Amino acid sequence: VNMVKKTVIVALMMLVVAAVATFVGVFFGVGKRKPPNEYFKAAVAADAGLCSEVGRDILIKGGSAVDAAIAAMLCTGLVNAHSMGIGGGLFLTIYNATTGKVETIDARETAPRNATQDMFGNSTDLSLTGGLAIAVPGEIRGYEMAHRRHGKLPWKDLFQPSIDLAEKGFPLGRALHIWLLKHQSLIITILFCGEDGDVRKENETIMFPKLAETYRKIATEGPNAFYEGQLAQNLVADIAAAGTMFIDLELTENKVLTYHRIVEAFRFAYAKRTLLGDPKFLIQNMTSDVYADALREKITDDTTHDTNYYEPQFILPENHGTTHISVVAEDGSAVAATSTINHYDSMVLLCRFGGAIYSSRTGIILNNELSDFCGRADAVKAGEQPPSSMTPVILESKSGRILVIGGSGGSLITTAVALSIMNHLWLGMNLTEAISAPIVFVDSKNNVHFEPLFDKTVIDGLKAVGHKITHWKYFFNVVNAVEKEGGCISAFSDIRKMGQSAGY
Ligand SMILES: *[C@@H]1O[C@H](CO)[C@@H](O)[C@H](O)[C@H]1NC(C)=O
Ligand SMILES: *[C@@H]1O[C@H](CO)[C@@H](O)[C@H](O)[C@H]1NC(C)=O
Ligand SMILES: *[C@@H]1O[C@H](CO)[C@@H](O)[C@H](O)[C@H]1NC(C)=O
Ligand SMILES: *[C@@H]1O[C@H](CO)[C@@H](O)[C@H](O)[C@H]1NC(C)=O
Ligand SMILES: *[C@@H]1O[C@H](CO)[C@@H](O)[C@H](O)[C@H]1NC(C)=O
Ligand SMILES: *[C@@H]1O[C@H](CO)[C@@H](O)[C@H](O)[C@H]1NC(C)=O
Repeated sequence: VNMVKKTVIVALMMLVVAAVATFVGVFFGVGKRKPPNEYFKAAVAADAGLCSEVGRDILIKGGSAVDAAIAAMLCTGLVNAHSMGIGGGLFLTIYNATTGKVETIDARETAPRNATQDMFGNSTDLSLTGGLAIAVPGEIRGYEMAHRRHGKLPWKDLFQPSIDLAEKGFPLGRALHIWLLKHQSLIITILFCGEDGDVRKENETIMFPKLAETYRKIATEGPNAFYEGQLAQNLVADIAAAGTMFIDLELTENKVLTYHRIVEAFRFAYAKRTLLGDPKFLIQNMTSDVYADALREKITDDTTHDTNYYEPQFILPENHGTTHISVVAEDGSAVAATSTINHYDSMVLLCRFGGAIYSSRTGIILNNELSDFCGRADAVKAGEQPPSSMTPVILESKSGRILVIGGSGGSLITTAVALSIMNHLWLGMNLTEAISAPIVFVDSKNNVHFEPLFDKTVIDGLKAVGHKITHWKYFFNVVNAVEKEGGCISAFSDIRKMGQSAGY
């Protein structure tokens, strides 16, 4: 009897202990810890971990997905100043979980009113660098519209974390550090060089005091402060000064066949993209089933073709200087935002000659987006927006699973994002694997490039059906995504840019 009693008491005590442990565990979240990149309620995938955290903190404070995306972008404009900034433009795709509605905001840079087809004379350089290449930034107007429609926190609250970072300084991240080493220049001297004249080291503290002032002004006075008044005048004065400068300047199907079809589809996509011109004019064609079917018919399984087969209108230039942010908020709403300031390489050339595209009066780094009119000076028209590869995507399944995805890397964007989606949704790789997998890219001259470690059997197989294979040393594709399925949220920021997601 004693034994039985003892056993019962021990069992009861164990139950109590288990109950307390469970309570403590549930209460403090112990035991609910998930692997990295897995979250419970909400998450942000920006390039820089610091900026994913800024976005996450906005969500925790009750901000909407849009609030978090804006705050994370203002932060990215500092931490990855080579990728985006308020001197550039962006596209936002926004999903409202309550209504199930998706909207897009086009805040891409626009050619100035005085822009003319002959503004660059015969100079391709001028269309790439210098004040003339600057299009009217759309970034702040884009944030304004998104915030007016979907903001929950006050506008100025979205700026505060970045004002603090810009004033107090933050550790120089590896992505920007590597970029600086590659592109040493004077713009950078102002902002990123130590007293010894060397590029600042990784993790050294950097500050943006001028830009902090500008952020504060826009935060307190509102978006118009960027486009009107003293700030706008200072910006225009710096741009005008720049304008006068002369610059010398795993599959079970036939794996090979599947990749052959993917590569052929990319060829058509790149060729047809050149017909778009201003996206406002012809976008319906790109998204129509009839059009897709017509192109699919032309894909031949046994061979590839000359460039002309794909009927491109002209060759597009390559570009970079872009960032992507994916957000899913606690209410299930989501934002995919891709922002750019375009080429830095050409900007660097300019800066060597006097630091023009950096507006020293406002701390703003400006875009050279007019160069995106396909390297064709005669394509520039006042009020038009240059074509773009940016593709902020939100996919929703019938069961309510949401995938928010997008990327950076100029012409690599569409390929990298499409492959990540295919890897994940068709081939069943998890989000991390899907984004990390090596990509295959077809350039505008129809050469096929494989990222290192791409499956060799596919490479050999594609060679055998006539694809021209060439090897690139540098890929600069970066994809950031957040996915919500039931109560699980995965968020992954591409390690190609040393990214890190954040959530809770
Ligand atoms: C734009 O063009 C008008 C008319 O030619 C001219 O008066 C004005 O000064 C120009 N503005 C700029 C900023 O160049
Ligand atoms: C552009 O090139 C054409 C033909 O070479 C030449 O006649 C013309 O003067 C050039 N225009 C400018 C603005 O340099
Ligand atoms: C979604 O739409 C509903 C209904 O219009 C609105 O009340 C809610 O604020 C919206 N949510 C966001 C995040 O915009
Ligand atoms: C910079 O800081 C990060 C985070 O603390 C660390 O992982 C990294 O190794 C540091 N880099 C260098 C070069 O010290
Ligand atoms: C776009 O679609 C329209 C209507 O279907 C068609 O007439 C036109 O040729 C298409 N444009 C291109 C560039 O294929
Ligand atoms: C994704 O797949 C990789 C490789 O199989 C694995 O190491 C990782 O833990 C997976 N991530 C998740 C969140 O399941």
